[in-house]
Amino acid sequence: MEIVILAAGKGTRMRSDYPKVLHTIGGKPMLEHVIATAYSLTPTQIHVVVGHGGDKIRETFSDLDCEKINWVVQHEQLGTGHAMQQVLPHINSTSEGNQILVLFGDVPLVRTQTLLQLVTSCKPPSLALLTARPANPRGFGRIIRNKADKVVSIIEERDANAEQRQINEVNTGIMAIPVVHLIRWLKALKNYNNQREFYLTDIVAMAATEQCPINALTITDEIQVMGVNDKHQLASVERHFQLRQVETLLESGVILRDPARLDIRGEVICGKDTVIDCNVVLEGKVSLGNTVEIGANCIIKDAVIGDGSKVLPGTHIEGSTIGNKASVGPMARLRPGTKLGDETKIGNFVETKNAEIGKGTKANHLAYLGDVKIGENCNIGAGVIVCNYDGANKHKTIIGNNVFVGSNSVLVAPVELKDNAFVAAGSTINTQVPADHLAVARSKQRNIAGWKRPIKKQ
Ligand code: UD1
Ligand code: MG
Repeated sequence: MEIVILAAGKGTRMRSDYPKVLHTIGGKPMLEHVIATAYSLTPTQIHVVVGHGGDKIRETFSDLDCEKINWVVQHEQLGTGHAMQQVLPHINSTSEGNQILVLFGDVPLVRTQTLLQLVTSCKPPSLALLTARPANPRGFGRIIRNKADKVVSIIEERDANAEQRQINEVNTGIMAIPVVHLIRWLKALKNYNNQREFYLTDIVAMAATEQCPINALTITDEIQVMGVNDKHQLASVERHFQLRQVETLLESGVILRDPARLDIRGEVICGKDTVIDCNVVLEGKVSLGNTVEIGANCIIKDAVIGDGSKVLPGTHIEGSTIGNKASVGPMARLRPGTKLGDETKIGNFVETKNAEIGKGTKANHLAYLGDVKIGENCNIGAGVIVCNYDGANKHKTIIGNNVFVGSNSVLVAPVELKDNAFVAAGSTINTQVPADHLAVARSKQRNIAGWKRPIKKQ
């Protein structure tokens, strides 16, 4: 089997400067979802027809492992049938028993299982169609059946009369076509319709005329075949996609305070009895252990969070690893390269970047810790700033175990604070503090007696 994905359309109804199939569902371009599903069917080749914005589409997928993908350019978008005509010279499997499965780049939620059912439901030379009976058939092509209930044609909504528009069985666009007939049928397509386009759907009437068996498989889960033609449908497909992911999470034992207020834009693995509060966004690869608590309004991207850790409300985490029983936030920001040990505490308005922080260490308030390695059981006081940047280069700060850095201290990197060092509040430290030493680096306090406050001028 070879697969064709049609993705060349202009997407006029999207009213967008971007090619339609690059609009994202769950943070991934629609076309990427379809390509992934196509791959899961292990076809010999996947032909993706691009046209409008084709360069941009290929550029987007240049990093993806696409060795099975053959990009076909449709220079002018003259319809779905015309798009298929562009693929013809690239079809390898011309032997009789082969079929071509057609998928649409703008129908991203179809499942592998459904497609397997379709391609095995009938063998060439039959034609297999995936149809649906959605509550609202607006915009879809309608399936026309004869008195014997056999499919005889598909008529697009724009070409349908009032009576045909009442039909609620629709064409999902997904079909498996026997290669033996495809070449002949595509050659015979005409563009005598409202849009002056060559419709792939017209091959159905040809098949019926030739008495070629047509097997229509009707899918009950209409969500899978929702098409995205405008931004309403984009929003609607996004919501359905999110609910689908949330169901998987719930099944794995997670507690969600409101399944409608969690967005997953990537892959999430989650342990048991982990609780996720409302308005949380999980992006990229996120792994949450058992009994983790994620507070409201957190954004977590590419992170691993260990068992029993708490992420308090309003926290941003990206590219970070957090051990077990740690506490982060509220309103903390962990930037890429942060590695927190077990039982660490990162409090409000603390920012970390490229920071390795040992077990039991606390930075509870208002600090910046960038390019640091901090040992175990340290206390980083309120307002401690690490000056890692000299205006040209970044430098490292190394702090041993059991170090106390007093509030409002500035650590000018590169600098090292050895085990058990103690930095007095308000110090500016720019040379090494040896082990077990107190460093005081601030001007001495003077108390001036008899000082008069300035008096306000009249
Ligand atoms: C199409 C079907 C319709 C079906 C619906 C399901 C046809 C004629 N109509 O209508 O019966 O109910 O999908 O979602 O097939 N494309 C190209 N080149 C073109 C035109 C389109 O590659 O010249 C691609 C588009 O990028 C898109 C797909 O084909 O991925 C469908 O095109 P679109 O214009 O969205 O067709 P619909 O009006 O949705
Ligand atoms: Mg469409």
